[in-house]
Amino acid sequence: MKSFWIGNLKIEHPIILAPMEHVTNSIFRRIVKPFGASLMFTEFCSSDGLIYGKEKIWEMVRFHESERPVAIQIFGNSPKIMSECAKKMEDLGADILDINCGCSVPKMEKCQSGAYLTRDLSLLKRVMESVRKAVQIPVTIKVRKGWDENHLTCFDIAKMAEILGFNAITIHGRTSVQGYTGKADWETIDQVARMVKIPVIGSGDITNAETAFEKLSRTAISGIMIGRGVIGNPWIFPEISYYLEKKRNLPAPLPQEKMKIMLKHLEMGIEEYGETEGILQTRRHLTWYVKGLHNSTYFRGKLQSLTNRNEIEEEIAKFFFPLLN
Ligand SMILES: Cc1cc2nc3c(=O)[nH]c(=O)nc-3n(C[C@H](O)[C@H](O)[C@H](O)COP(=O)(O)O)c2cc1C
Repeated sequence: MKSFWIGNLKIEHPIILAPMEHVTNSIFRRIVKPFGASLMFTEFCSSDGLIYGKEKIWEMVRFHESERPVAIQIFGNSPKIMSECAKKMEDLGADILDINCGCSVPKMEKCQSGAYLTRDLSLLKRVMESVRKAVQIPVTIKVRKGWDENHLTCFDIAKMAEILGFNAITIHGRTSVQGYTGKADWETIDQVARMVKIPVIGSGDITNAETAFEKLSRTAISGIMIGRGVIGNPWIFPEISYYLEKKRNLPAPLPQEKMKIMLKHLEMGIEEYGETEGILQTRRHLTWYVKGLHNSTYFRGKLQSLTNRNEIEEEIAKFFFPLLN
């Protein structure tokens, strides 16, 4: 597997964990890391919130040493606040500072950030310039291919990123208007990768090893990002690595491996946040691990009503009992 560089940071191989709000928190990242992500992104965090908000928001960007290399992703549209925030993330120890310009969820519209910022390229340029000047660590940006098919801004933004000294760009191959409908357009991602000298990371619809291999071998990208494909499925990382090296599929994870990871995830959640909050934070992940398995709908429903660690552990054991015997 080919390594590449983001600025002065060596990324050991091309398989990267995508930023995902309410999913890729520190616990999830520590679960995923041993499976083999070469770089992991935090979920997006508001620069205004980090500078002016409550202390609690800092939980979104804190990470453990074992997670490195970590890219902290921030959003905002004020050159001053974004650069101040970038500096704070550098001081916190981020390996990479990433600017979110790809999300168009309602809270982004309210603050004209995320994908909305790509509709005003001169403001975006000022934000990028000030962030670049504020820190020494590598700086990256994540965009959609454009706002809509008539405004494919990823080409201009990639060029701008290269000129301004950004160290990589990630492109999700859909427009903002598309949301998650249709298919990610990897041809456009490839065209950008062939146009600029900085690494381009591709994002969109990598849910199995064959697709990962196909995108990496047929395009000029340096890395692929795994988003929805890793939810409840950290095994996708070794599956892709194995396929890239041997061109064969790894067998699917055994039920006991799934059960072990679920119990570990629960334990880490409780260790980090205490029993009540830890269970609240972890419960949805537990239901994702069993998706597609026999009785998973019943398990999901049952878990919603449980608020105690022993009961949840028992329910997990009950769920897996017929699968293990
Ligand atoms: C639940 C969820 C939350 C997301 N949150 C973020 C985010 O915080 N920052 C970001 O840049 N992209 C976010 N994305 C977009 C993903 O990083 C990724 O680009 C997109 O899902 C396409 O990749 P996939 O098909 O592998 O999921 C999110 C996607 C999902 C499904």
